[in-house]
Amino acid sequence: MYICLCNQHRDGDLRKLAQKGIRCARAAYQALGGEPQCGRCLSFAQQIIDAIPAETPNLLPGASNSLAASD
Ligand code: FES
Repeated sequence: MYICLCNQHRDGDLRKLAQKGIRCARAAYQALGGEPQCGRCLSFAQQIIDAIPAETPNLLPGASNSLAASD
């Protein structure tokens, strides 16, 4: 579904970026290659981003996000 008609950004594009750690609608638009034009979509775009949990970052270099034991 299109969220931003000015830039043709879709909800799926925003969700993917949110999962990668982009948590701001304006930053997501920049990553997609555009700037907000009319701005009507920004609050809804931010709601979509806020609803997606970001990936858990690796806390140690070389560490896996897996909780499985490797013994
Ligand atoms: S609809 Fe997104 S900037 Fe206009």
